[in-house]
Parts: sequence; C-alpha cells; structure tokens
Amino acid sequence: MHIRKMKKEDYGELIELWERAGLDYKQCGRDSREHILKELRANPDLFLVAEQDGKIVGSVLATYGGRKGWLNRVAVDPEFQGKGLGKKLCLKVESVLRKRGCMIFAMQIHNSNKRSKEMAKGLGYEERKDIIYFRKKDNDDF
Ligand SMILES: CC(C)(COP(=O)(O)OP(=O)(O)OC[C@H]1O[C@@H](n2cnc3c(N)ncnc32)[C@H](O)[C@@H]1OP(=O)(O)O)[C@@H](O)C(=O)NCCC(=O)NCCS
Repeated sequence: MHIRKMKKEDYGELIELWERAGLDYKQCGRDSREHILKELRANPDLFLVAEQDGKIVGSVLATYGGRKGWLNRVAVDPEFQGKGLGKKLCLKVESVLRKRGCMIFAMQIHNSNKRSKEMAKGLGYEERKDIIYFRKKDNDDF
C-alpha cells in the first residue's frame, strides 16, 4: 500500500473509487474533472490517493485557505475498509497541512455517517454539537 499525491490521470479512477465506496459526491461542479484538476494544479500536495497494485483504493482531498485545513472526500475501497487506511490517509494529509502552518483540522460529516464520525473521533476530532452548518449557493451544480 502506497500513499502518494494525486496525478491528473487519476481522476477517472478516483470517481470509480467514490462510486465503490458509496461516497456522496456530484460529478459536476466541485467534483467535475475540470474543477478537481484546477484545484490540483493550485495545490498539488493536498490531494492524496492510496494505491495498491496499481489501483486507487483510497483518497483524501484537503483544502487550506490559511485558517482551517479541511479534509474532504475521504474514501476507502470497501475491500480495504476497516484496516486503518482511512485513518492513515487523514494523518498523512494532516502532516502535509501542518507543514503549511495549519493548526486546525476539520471535516464535515453527515450525521447519519456513523463510521466516518467514529473515524473522526478516533483521530482526535471534537464533535461540535453547538454549531450548525449554514450554506449559500450561487450555482446548484457546485
Ligand atoms: C469512512 C471511511 C473512509 C473509513 O475508512 P476505513 O479505512 O474503513 O477506516 P479505518 O480502518 O481507518 O478505521 C477508522 C475508524 O473508523 C471506525 N470504523 C471502521 N470500520 C468501522 C465499522 N465497520 N463500524 C463502525 N466504525 C468503524 C473505527 O472507529 C475506526 O477506528 P479504530 O480502528 O481505531 O476503531 C470508509 O468507511 C469509507 O470510505 N466510507 C464511505 C465513504 C465515506 O462516507 N466517506 C466519508 C465522508 S465524510
């Protein structure tokens, strides 16, 4: 198992992984090829994938704007789940973010996603029950 930076050629496999993992994503807007590759060009160290025998089996796409580091699109191939890979990907990207000066790490997790909530807690993330997420969209595709 090898964790490495995402390459632009990985996009198709990344989407296949998200499908297998049942990740809630949209193949338009911010998850479109165009947008992901644009983000990758701007921050080539923040999108990581796990590779096993040439196949992408894990992902984490982080973003950092100088305040919080966000861990997005954490996904592990069902065949490889429960073996510590999700945690490993998160810890790896946290260390990349730390090198950039990031000191606060965050994830948005759907309330029904028990496994991800357990993973976040296991990684030392605090569940903030006092905060509700508000959002405003200029484009429904995003
Ligand atoms: C969430 C996900 C990334 C976890 O990846 P993983 O490789 O299976 O996770 P790990 O093996 O590193 O386990 C991390 C923690 O998750 C929890 N966990 C793992 N498998 C679990 C299970 N079957 N039931 C409940 N909790 C579980 C445990 O707390 C575990 O920590 P522990 O091993 O110290 O007890 C993976 O299940 C996944 O891809 N899910 C679908 C996509 C998704 O929902 N992504 C997150 C979006 S926010």
